[in-house]
Amino acid sequence: MRHPLRRRLVWTVVALVLTVTAALAVVSALVLRSSLYDQLDSQLLAAADRAKESAGPGPGFGSGEGGPHVPPGQATGTVEVYYEDGAVEQAGYLDESGEFQPLDDAQVAALDGLPCDGVIRTVELPGLGTFRSVGTMTGGDPVVTAMSTADVAGTLSSYVGLEVGLAAAGVAVAAGAATVLVRRALRPLDRVAAAARQVTELPLDRGEVDTIPRVPPALAADGTEVGRVGAALNHLIGHVESALSARHESEQQVRRFVADASHELRTPLASIRGYAELVRRSPDAVPASATHAIGRVEAEAGRMTGLVDDLLLLARLDAGRPLERAPVDLAGLVVDAVADAHAAGPDHAWRLDLGPSPAPLLVEGDEARLRQVLANLLGNARVHTPSGTTVWTSGRLSGDDVVVEVRDDGPGVPAELRRVLFQRFSRADTARSRTGGSTGLGLAIADAIVQAHRGSVAVASRTAAEGASGTTFTVRLPALTAGPQPAQRRRSAAAATVEP
Ligand SMILES: Nc1ncnc2c1ncn2[C@@H]1O[C@H](COP(=O)(O)OP(=O)(O)O)[C@@H](O)[C@H]1O
Ligand SMILES: [Mg+2]
Repeated sequence: MRHPLRRRLVWTVVALVLTVTAALAVVSALVLRSSLYDQLDSQLLAAADRAKESAGPGPGFGSGEGGPHVPPGQATGTVEVYYEDGAVEQAGYLDESGEFQPLDDAQVAALDGLPCDGVIRTVELPGLGTFRSVGTMTGGDPVVTAMSTADVAGTLSSYVGLEVGLAAAGVAVAAGAATVLVRRALRPLDRVAAAARQVTELPLDRGEVDTIPRVPPALAADGTEVGRVGAALNHLIGHVESALSARHESEQQVRRFVADASHELRTPLASIRGYAELVRRSPDAVPASATHAIGRVEAEAGRMTGLVDDLLLLARLDAGRPLERAPVDLAGLVVDAVADAHAAGPDHAWRLDLGPSPAPLLVEGDEARLRQVLANLLGNARVHTPSGTTVWTSGRLSGDDVVVEVRDDGPGVPAELRRVLFQRFSRADTARSRTGGSTGLGLAIADAIVQAHRGSVAVASRTAAEGASGTTFTVRLPALTAGPQPAQRRRSAAAATVEP
């Protein structure tokens, strides 16, 4: 089964043709041989009869003046041996000119002593070849007649030669025709395979799946084997397509549900916060013990609002909502984000590095969302590290990308958390994160936003056990080139005018 079907089919055809031709050739050669020998034998018997008649009483063989006795009607090459009184009287053969040529002693010896019982035998005459011979008795004296098998052998060998030639030609023609026909018959299979390969190259793992290309109808007609394969493949594609779109539809429903739920939760949360604030601002109206509780209600409602906002944002990013597309200067965003972080965390040391000659770092995207990415990373560096930690933030152009790096020398991310860091709700389960407003959604959001901008975000981190501890987040976004193509410039200009 290792060889391609194509080759196996051709080999099978060739082997079949070869077997049939060989069988036919052998059988027909055997039939021809036996009929030629029958013919020779009947000629031999006729010759023997003629020899017998002429050897009868009367003017005998060699008995005189006329030279050797030749019975009339004998064919060229016929050997005759006449005996008289038990001794060889005359032995010879007829040559082409009808002359009687004597046999030599060795040849006579080969014929001498054969039983004269009328049975045809094959004998070898030295120098003359193979003969069929028959001995009969005439009035007491034997007569031996023999005829050469050379003609029969010649006919047979030229017949076999012709057969071998014809068989070789037949096999060659069959091989050629089989190759062409099999190739033509199997070509549609290649096209079906190509169609299947095309499907494997489609990105079916995410997003909405458009119509998957099918095998062309001509290759999926039910009449042929290839057509059945094509039809089965189309059936499979149809099945996969409807399964994927059903799945996509149910995913969309879940996303819509999360988005709607988050959205619906915002209004009651705003009310809770509003009322809590109202109560807190009039301390005389409530007992002192309730003031603390109201403060907690307000704080938790604020935390929940953040969570609900994060969920809503993630649901929208999941749904692939188009982001704003405008040129954004990341250098400016980095400066703002570091300033904000400094204000929020004065106990940390904040360092900013935009290179020796700071220039705008332009990317195309949604400014508010990109601000959020930086705020999440710097917020993490502030919240998840102890005071006194230094945080370095840098921005630079690297090849076709703008790279922003946020590095701290804090305690680092535990190894088991690193692999799932960008997944939703993954966070180190420390007392600090449980109480400190940690949701585990910040990095998932940063990742989703950066991916929506066709960029990537990566983490490298070490804990104290692995050496000098610290964490580095690297954001990579495709840079907006300085001289955009006209189409791009027009689009940017259009987007810019929309901005307030
Ligand atoms: N700079 C950092 N140093 C140490 N741990 C970090 C750092 N940034 C993130 N982490 C860890 O990654 C977890 C996930 O972060 P994030 O997705 O922003 O969620 P959250 O900040 O709400 O906990 C955090 O809970 C924290 O354990
Ligand atoms: Mg965070």
